[in-house]
Amino acid sequence: MKLATRLCLLIAGLTLTVPGIAAKDPNLKLLKARQGEMQLRAYNVGPLFGMAKGKMEYDAALASKLANNLKTQLSLDIGGAWKKGTDIEAYPGKTTSLGKIWTTYPEISEYGKKYAKAVKELAAEAGNGLDALKPKISAVGKTCKGCHDEFRELN
Ligand code: HEC
Repeated sequence: MKLATRLCLLIAGLTLTVPGIAAKDPNLKLLKARQGEMQLRAYNVGPLFGMAKGKMEYDAALASKLANNLKTQLSLDIGGAWKKGTDIEAYPGKTTSLGKIWTTYPEISEYGKKYAKAVKELAAEAGNGLDALKPKISAVGKTCKGCHDEFRELN
């Protein structure tokens, strides 16, 4: 084999193995995925709260779109990202998930069901005027908070 070819292979080999060596704990990706999904919820509810609080003008089309985005999110199955052993004890500073999520399972799914119900009701009403939006987004907000209060470590 020519030296140049060998060098090429060596470099190719290195670029393949270096990320392997540097590869982080794969569970970190799970934390990011579930947090990303939560961030997307926050992105969708933000303007809806803004409208309900009079901080931004009510826009029926936007309200309906964002509420339906939230509803679409309900159909995602990212259960795999909620792997046992990925709580705040194991990953301090990387997650706010309490071990309780897993030790009391399926308790958290009751909170998830209440959330899903509130989101569906929101999606049905968000485009029907500010007075229709207000109670529905407030109900959704309560279910977000209800679950966070119970299952997250928040300072
Ligand atoms: C059934 C429980 C549950 C519901 C409902 C819920 N969350 Fe969460 N949320 C969690 C848990 C658990 C975490 C911690 C995730 C982690 O760090 O592992 C979290 C984390 C978050 C985070 C922080 C993500 C990060 O980057 O660390 C945001 C933002 C968030 N949720 C927004 C929302 C919003 C907005 C809603 C409602 C529209 C909502 N959540 C509903 C359980 C819930």
